Amino acid sequence: MKVWFIGAGPGDPELMTRKAWRILSQADVVLHDALMDTAGMQEAAPNAQWLEVGKRSGRPSVEQAFICRTLVTLAKRGLTVVRLKGGDPSIFGRLAEELQACRAENLEIEIIPGVTAACAAAADLQTSLTLRGESRSVAFVTPRLGKHETNTRSEWLTVALAAQTTVLYMASAQAKDICTALIEAGKSKQTPICIVENASRTGQRFKYTLHEVAQNGLPVFEGPVTLLLGQALSLAHVQQTSSTARSPEQQPTLPSQHAVA
Ligand SMILES: C[S@@+](CC[C@H](N)C(=O)[O-])C[C@H]1O[C@@H](n2cnc3c(N)ncnc32)[C@H](O)[C@@H]1O
Repeated sequence: MKVWFIGAGPGDPELMTRKAWRILSQADVVLHDALMDTAGMQEAAPNAQWLEVGKRSGRPSVEQAFICRTLVTLAKRGLTVVRLKGGDPSIFGRLAEELQACRAENLEIEIIPGVTAACAAAADLQTSLTLRGESRSVAFVTPRLGKHETNTRSEWLTVALAAQTTVLYMASAQAKDICTALIEAGKSKQTPICIVENASRTGQRFKYTLHEVAQNGLPVFEGPVTLLLGQALSLAHVQQTSSTARSPEQQPTLPSQHAVA
């Protein structure tokens, strides 16, 4: 009895590994996150039962305990169970709880990594997260607190200040406050910051300075968004590929974009 934890990558099914594709084709049941565009991925497991067990910020979500219980129950019935997670399962994906639940029942486990949003976003921006002589460290950090976590605002800030390149997950709604806090803590106002919505798929991409976002904030996005900041982002190439056109009255005032030719 085995549970497979598979990284689905950022959305483009072609970014899934061959192994992920092969194991999906053997699945009886696939438990997948919300907000994943599974259309192309379902090709890999057309006969499996696909169950959404997602969590959505501020909206009704499936309880983590239910997900853990379901994984265990289905695997104990002898089914080939795949837990399909967006990006890489080990990054901000509640993987630890699910592994623990499976281990407690002596289920076999295997993890297949996926492309995390940070790397997919860097690819979309045609840039590198590290830069010789400039950036030797990259931090993946989120300011988002879990239900029972106490305020650790300064924790993400400490990490973001220590790393030369910082990638912020689950942070777009707080972008204005984040950039203000970084500037107040001593980060240069001119530090480049890129915003990538729906990495690997069609979405909005922006390149600003910390100062610009601190002043003006960001629009509300429909898809998942990653923020990337640090000098390495000065090389980012922003091609506007928005598919989610908003009417002018919905469009907040934004600072001008800086496309690097
Ligand atoms: C719960 S975390 C899961 C991260 C995922 N495990 C990974 O490795 O990318 C969800 C956050 O990841 C980021 N994210 C996930 N997919 C993304 C995508 N396609 N484009 C941009 N950001 C993405 C966003 O910051 C989103 O709020």
